[in-house]
Amino acid sequence: MNIAVAGTGYVGLVAGVCFAEKGHKVICVDTDKEKVELMKSGVSPIYEADLEDLMRKNYEEGRLNYTTDYGLAYKNADAIFIGVGTPELPDGSANLSYIATVARQIAESVEQDCLVVVKSTVPVGTNDKVEQFIKDFLIHDVKVEVASNPEFLAQGSAVRDTLKASRVIIGTESKEAEDKLLEIYEPFGLPMVSVSRRSAEMIKYACNNFLALKISYMNDIANLCELVDADIEEVAKGMSFDARIGSSFLNAGIGYGGSCFPKDTKALKYLAKQYYYDLKTVGAAVEVNKEQKTKLFTKARKRLITFQGLKVAVLGLSFKPGTDDLREAPSLDNIALLLEQGANIYAYDPVAMCNFKKRYPDEIIYTHTPEEALEGANVCFIFTEWKEIKETTPDTYKKYMRTPLVYDGRNIYKPEEMKEAGIEYYSIGR
Ligand code: UDX
Repeated sequence: MNIAVAGTGYVGLVAGVCFAEKGHKVICVDTDKEKVELMKSGVSPIYEADLEDLMRKNYEEGRLNYTTDYGLAYKNADAIFIGVGTPELPDGSANLSYIATVARQIAESVEQDCLVVVKSTVPVGTNDKVEQFIKDFLIHDVKVEVASNPEFLAQGSAVRDTLKASRVIIGTESKEAEDKLLEIYEPFGLPMVSVSRRSAEMIKYACNNFLALKISYMNDIANLCELVDADIEEVAKGMSFDARIGSSFLNAGIGYGGSCFPKDTKALKYLAKQYYYDLKTVGAAVEVNKEQKTKLFTKARKRLITFQGLKVAVLGLSFKPGTDDLREAPSLDNIALLLEQGANIYAYDPVAMCNFKKRYPDEIIYTHTPEEALEGANVCFIFTEWKEIKETTPDTYKKYMRTPLVYDGRNIYKPEEMKEAGIEYYSIGR
């Protein structure tokens, strides 16, 4: 099938590459000329495992291409997938302007019947409006339907999450549209769940909000564990054997970040509010997460009184391992506070330092290794559980730091081993 994909961010590019890998002929559209040239030369604009290899392979084999010319891409497409961003607006609602722009371009370009498939996360009911909008602006006499097909990929494992997805949600309002989407996904050999368009839109929010809730619940319990002298790691282990709870997303830490959970929790709350419904559980998750992000900073400030003139080692900047993405990363909140307090920050991250430098070019010293960051430090904060950071042994902190005082936001170490190595160690929920 001829597939066009609008937007080459995480959602669009990964979807396009995976459709090509499964045998479809794909053209990815982006307005950014430089980015299109970069992708044509085989370079991925995002850091994502396996993506570049598949981009090169499918481009060379002629199934995948990139363009800025949306008219050319859309006019003869059997299906057009929309994977543009829906970032958060100041009031918490989703910004749908990118979706609207693409919808308008589609309406002006399509010259044959086609299915428009929205992969972007959009508030329930948006796709009804997108369909009407396209119909209102159509230039040619063709039939266009809109389907909802949310994605569930996580950054760092986006390609695997797409090719081996736990399920494909097919949200349509007609048998024709459903059959077309089923045909597109047939080569993936994945479980397919056919639902209404509005249910599909809601499934995406319900999943992300549930996972955000799960994390915030564990963080809440972790905070209580500290007060009652229980260990959240042991508690999570004990919980995980209950199949009704499951073993994933039970890791307490310094809060969730990234491009989805913070945005989607606020967007769902906003949606509910429009219907005069107070989504209390989600509100609680957002609140817990906000406090959790700076929990270790607050603890350390009480212990040290001031950070003025102290050398502070920061290990991990990205919002999670496997990505260079800094959106809503706990490191941002903490580093802003540390700088405000006059700390001298030495930061290490295996891939996200380049992005961090764009925000803080001169205020922070970036190091090549964890050891370099720890050298002579008065205190260390761990914000991301990168493999390179997890491999740093307790003895290394003792050896390099001026005073071995460690605040670990990802519970990388066992408190006993750190104590044995002579380190004053604080983590989450233990
Ligand atoms: C998430 C969803 O997993 C994915 O299905 C959806 O499509 C997009 O949002 P992503 O944001 O890439 O993906 O990362 P994820 O691995 O889910 O982690 C999100 C945040 O939660 C990270 O900050 C991570 O550190 C945190 N987290 C995750 C925890 O604090 N504890 C956990 O147990 C799991």
